[in-house]
Amino acid sequence: MFHRYLDISLFICLSVAFVGVENKLEFLPAPEYVNLSWTSEFDVKVTWKAPRDLDPRCKVNYTYDTAQNCSTADIGSHKTNNLHFNESITTEHGICFRLRTVPAAQTCDKFKSKPVDIIVPPHKALVEDFKCNYSCMKAFTCTWTPVSNLPDLKMYYRYRSSPHLFPCSEYQYDELVKTGCKLSGSFQEVIDVFFLINGTQDGKTVRNTFQRSPNDLVKLKPPKPDVKQDGIKLHFEWTDNNDCSECLKYQYTYKKCNSTYLSEETDKRQVELEYDFACQYKFRVKSIYSSICGEGDSVWSEELIFGEDRDPKGFSLVAFIVIPVTLSLCLILALVLFRRHRHIILPTIPEPALFFKDMFGNKDLADVKSVGVQNLYVPIEEVVESKITLEPEPSQLLNL
Ligand SMILES: *[C@@H]1O[C@H](CO)[C@@H](O)[C@H](O)[C@H]1NC(C)=O
Ligand SMILES: *[C@@H]1O[C@H](CO)[C@@H](O)[C@H](O)[C@H]1NC(C)=O
Ligand SMILES: *[C@@H]1O[C@H](CO)[C@@H](O)[C@H](O)[C@H]1NC(C)=O
Ligand SMILES: *[C@@H]1O[C@H](CO)[C@@H](O)[C@H](O)[C@H]1NC(C)=O
Ligand SMILES: *[C@@H]1O[C@H](CO)[C@@H](O)[C@H](O)[C@H]1NC(C)=O
Ligand SMILES: *[C@@H]1O[C@H](CO)[C@@H](O)[C@H](O)[C@H]1NC(C)=O
Ligand SMILES: *[C@@H]1O[C@H](CO)[C@@H](O)[C@H](O)[C@H]1NC(C)=O
Repeated sequence: MFHRYLDISLFICLSVAFVGVENKLEFLPAPEYVNLSWTSEFDVKVTWKAPRDLDPRCKVNYTYDTAQNCSTADIGSHKTNNLHFNESITTEHGICFRLRTVPAAQTCDKFKSKPVDIIVPPHKALVEDFKCNYSCMKAFTCTWTPVSNLPDLKMYYRYRSSPHLFPCSEYQYDELVKTGCKLSGSFQEVIDVFFLINGTQDGKTVRNTFQRSPNDLVKLKPPKPDVKQDGIKLHFEWTDNNDCSECLKYQYTYKKCNSTYLSEETDKRQVELEYDFACQYKFRVKSIYSSICGEGDSVWSEELIFGEDRDPKGFSLVAFIVIPVTLSLCLILALVLFRRHRHIILPTIPEPALFFKDMFGNKDLADVKSVGVQNLYVPIEEVVESKITLEPEPSQLLNL
């Protein structure tokens, strides 16, 4: 009996609480007569009317978001108490505007309205693969592939912040068909550039619009690495193909056996390493903008591979056995050769005693000199007069 009473009172309590919450959980009515109209090639104006059945005591504002997909456009990034807004948009992808009525602070105890979605579908492609690059922060070039045949195709561009539209002044062609444009003007610190490509098809103007951000398109080519071995040194060097070398720094990385090294930014275009013969080197380098010129970098260069990973044990065999043995053999060979050719390498020096004997003999100074300069001692023969006889011959003696 008591239990049942408790159940009923709990039920009543919960119901009251629920009714209380439901009273507060009232949504504001959504904006009405929502209308989107184009005011230029890139500008839309969205207008609406305040909801009719709005509690007059309730003050409201409106929020809207812009996104490619309505489901991601729901944070109320813009708030206004006007009944319109303007936006600059392009139609490469679809656009969704999501609009809601929201309570103005403190005046209204209701929740934001259900959304009204305004969808701008993506354009039908006249060109595909619309790509731009901002090479070296100098040349801003865009390219595309035509899909429709538009003999009078033209390209225009403008900065997001300004309504002035510039015609392309330097087209790129592929067999008389326009496939690109080199833009003129400065794009440093420009956030967005809008592009219009239009032409006539079946007597009607058709158009595609695109939006690109130069800062996301800074492109640098990677350097070309090269390596030279110089004894126990490796020289990695690279050449740069970008035409803004005054703006560039480099960063390199190499893998040596299993360890990886990443350099700081450097101005140099070469690096010298101690060559570890047991290791393979895998080298890469990239170009980076120095901060005075902008931001951005190239992709890593292709990998330059030098040497081979050798089995460390095999290598120590080489280092501790083969090299000393080879050196010993060389030494022995050198000694043998030395002995054999000693008379050339270390000539015999004349014995001083003999030398002086010659000097004071009946030799003139020139000869002495030549003995000193030339290295071989040639003993000088004594002059012996073999025919001189001091005593008469025995026959003569007999005749006397
Ligand atoms: C939308 O706005 C345009 C231009 O302001 C106007 O011509 C058109 O009638 C409006 N459409 C609706 C349904 O309100
Ligand atoms: C929008 O996002 C939802 C969920 O993330 C996805 O299912 C839907 O396909 C998307 N629509 C478009 C047009 O991208
Ligand atoms: C919201 O509405 C209130 C009352 O209408 C107004 O004073 C306030 O400026 C609005 N807020 C914004 C962000 O427009
Ligand atoms: C929106 O654009 C229209 C037409 O370009 C202009 O008259 C109006 O002042 C703009 N409003 C705002 C709030 O920028
Ligand atoms: C393309 O757009 C420009 C700028 O709005 C315009 O002057 C030109 O007439 C358009 N071309 C065609 C074929 O409609
Ligand atoms: C930038 O685009 C131009 C034109 O397509 C091309 O010649 C150049 O190689 C590109 N630069 C880079 C770094 O991709
Ligand atoms: C290098 O890595 C390989 C496989 O990842 C391993 O087998 C080898 O022992 C490593 N060498 C060194 C010197 O760490």
